[in-house]
Amino acid sequence: MQKFIVDGGMPLKGELSVQSAKNAALPIIAACILTEDAVTIENCPKLKDIDAMLDIMRHLGCFAEQKGDVLTVCCRDVALNVINSDLTGKLRSSIFILGSILSRCRRAYISHPGGCEIGLRPIDLHIAGLKALNVKIDDDYGVICCDGSDMKSGIINLDFASVGATENLMMAGALLDGETVIVNAAREPEIIDLARFINAMGGRVYGAGESVIRIIGVKKLHGCIYKPMPDRICAGTYLAAVAAAGGSVTVRNVVPEHIFGMTERLKKIGAKLNVRHDSVRITVNERPRPLHKLETNVYPAFPTDMQPQFSAMLTRATGSSIVVENLFENRFGYTAELAKMGALITVKDRVAVIRGVPKLSGAVLRASDLRGGAALVVAAVAAEGRSVIYGTEHIDRGYEYIERAFESIGASVRRVDDSD
Ligand code: EPZ
Repeated sequence: MQKFIVDGGMPLKGELSVQSAKNAALPIIAACILTEDAVTIENCPKLKDIDAMLDIMRHLGCFAEQKGDVLTVCCRDVALNVINSDLTGKLRSSIFILGSILSRCRRAYISHPGGCEIGLRPIDLHIAGLKALNVKIDDDYGVICCDGSDMKSGIINLDFASVGATENLMMAGALLDGETVIVNAAREPEIIDLARFINAMGGRVYGAGESVIRIIGVKKLHGCIYKPMPDRICAGTYLAAVAAAGGSVTVRNVVPEHIFGMTERLKKIGAKLNVRHDSVRITVNERPRPLHKLETNVYPAFPTDMQPQFSAMLTRATGSSIVVENLFENRFGYTAELAKMGALITVKDRVAVIRGVPKLSGAVLRASDLRGGAALVVAAVAAEGRSVIYGTEHIDRGYEYIERAFESIGASVRRVDDSD
């Protein structure tokens, strides 16, 4: 087991480049099943969630090898093995592999992924969408058994614009005869990236990024070389850290329009921003101003995956902020850890009231989920004194060597073995 030791309280300075997006790379890897050819994914981050997805791919008989930041996947043959709970338990989003397996093999078996630290995370929208494509689905003692032998393209009306369900259904439709239409599709940038990837393999996906997506099925897809989009959540995490700790940092490899919801709020808390075509320079010289109301919702609204890191920053604000979490029912767990540092946060259901304090103090903390863990690093970097953060494995699910990124902007974040 490892932990981070953070000596905080220093302003941040310098520059860093953001990794490719985990939440783009995961569905892209799943979509490799759609072709028998080899696919090369460049700039693929080294993350625990990516490893978990690659384990699933290998379990299905695919070749998958990551050398440095280049990932090669080849699914010449796909074995219809049950994806058991050992595998789905490590990666909740494994459910969206159903669409690509069904599209290619017309059958699929996967253990129910279950809930996780941030919420119950039902999969009813995925199931309803696949049923609309004429897939027969039985739940056999926790294993979801899908028979797609009579699968047909069709129109799917999502009750809610779920990211994973939209991705699943885009993959499901990619090799079906005719046109599949997803109405009320999610509009997150990662959806556009998946569509680009499918199209780079010879697919025909139109309208990604809008609420109606059309997928014209093709007979066959071919291999390609692809570089996933930059990680907007990692970019936002580093920007939030500068806003919390003060300093001046250039964050490179960003798509400014993807992080507009964050940069607009950063301006409101008093940050000076210099936004270029693929970088943002942030300068913060004073304590952040509070945000009257920060409310998460589907893109282009403020992302739920940034709620913990922004809340951590707001603990140092010059007044009170209200944060409303609309996506997940249990995404304030990290606030109890921030309280150990002197943060004043009251949580009731999906609303947190944060009363800013002049300073946080280092403390012994435990991360219990990915973004909540990132929020602890943000707070520790801004706090005076030393913090110890356990639960690094949660943070490693989505941030490639977060300690190196922070070191490169002048923070002291060291990864050590717990025995040290
Ligand atoms: C994706 O999860 C991301 N994961 C999440 O990032 C992100 O928080 C989320 O989208 C929202 O932006 C990946 O891309 C791998 P949803 P996903 O389906 O697809 C409910 C991170 O930290 N819902 O849009 O699972 C659901 O419970 C992770 O990197 C149903 O009710 O999100 C939630 O309340 C965490 N039924 C809401 O919709 C369903 O069938 C949004 O979920 C599916 C979802």
